[in-house]
Amino acid sequence: MTGPDQTGNDQTGSSAASHCRSIVELGPQRVRHLLELTDHMAEVNRRPNPKVPALRSRTVCNIFFEDSTRTRLSFEMAARRLSADTMTFSVGQSSLNKGESLRDTIETLAAMGVDAFVVRHRSSGVPWAISRWTDAAVVNAGDGWHAHPTQALLDCHTLMSELSGSSPRRADLAGIKIAIVGDIKHSRVARSGIAAFEMLGAEVIAVAPRTLIPPHFSTPVTQDLDTILPEIDALYLLRMQSERMSGALVPDLSEYTMRFGLTPERVQRMNDNVVVMHPGPMNRGVEITVDPAELPRSVITKQVTTGIAVRMAVLFELLGSGAAQAAPETSTEVGFESQMEEL
Ligand code: ASP
Ligand code: CP
Repeated sequence: MTGPDQTGNDQTGSSAASHCRSIVELGPQRVRHLLELTDHMAEVNRRPNPKVPALRSRTVCNIFFEDSTRTRLSFEMAARRLSADTMTFSVGQSSLNKGESLRDTIETLAAMGVDAFVVRHRSSGVPWAISRWTDAAVVNAGDGWHAHPTQALLDCHTLMSELSGSSPRRADLAGIKIAIVGDIKHSRVARSGIAAFEMLGAEVIAVAPRTLIPPHFSTPVTQDLDTILPEIDALYLLRMQSERMSGALVPDLSEYTMRFGLTPERVQRMNDNVVVMHPGPMNRGVEITVDPAELPRSVITKQVTTGIAVRMAVLFELLGSGAAQAAPETSTEVGFESQMEEL
């Protein structure tokens, strides 16, 4: 299967502008535009009736070949809040089990009038393959170890909002130091997160055992979490992606926790201002042994809430009338304001 090239760009399929497949492919301008659209969607979500007509008569189909709680449900909620019709494809109850190929499956669903596929798959590159088989927009909800762009967008938006306090959301992450701790090698969250954080001007440091760092990795790395703790503004914890490991890459989980986990001792030593993040699902007792609800500045729940607004922004940018690439004020075909009117 041909997939993205080194820059994340598709060499053969439809224009990258009609999809949301990786942060690198989105590029800085679209990333910033999506973060601005997220502000508008978050405002919609604060209304007593958080539902707008923007995607009326559009159909969004979720296809998840890997387990998911927050990504799948928040895409579903995002589509419904924009008044799109939703379809959820159940892999286990489908004709894939009768030998139908993924390509035939996609073409069959596309023939039913799907406007956007939201796809999660264990193999890197599948969203690029799908976008060669259909004219529908493709949103990458996680492909193998490669990319999870909407997670990175929601992480950036959450962190920028948190660091802004009651002031308007800061426009970038310049001057902010973020430690990403854990299984970076197998993590699409880390790959997309690092790309987005660095794109917005943050300094990122990876903290992990050498066995959990990918080869040819250009971000600075340390094995000494305690030394960098006093210097950081945000601590981003990752789960051990054991489903993607062929053997034991850490000799002992309790030793891993001692060296890389967020333990009560580290919380004691850590500056109260450090923003604690995790994409979920958490493995309590491994990467985190404290209750995040008791931390002075954990935004783990806010990340989940922001996920809905980010996914509304992504679907709206791809499917909303006249929205692609246009700032809300300059969107012409149907006014942005009327698309965001309460139903
Ligand atoms: N939920 C995220 C992902 O699907 C992170 C994880 O599973 O650890 O990549
Ligand atoms: N963060 C994340 O992608 O969570 P799910 O695997 O539950 O979707």
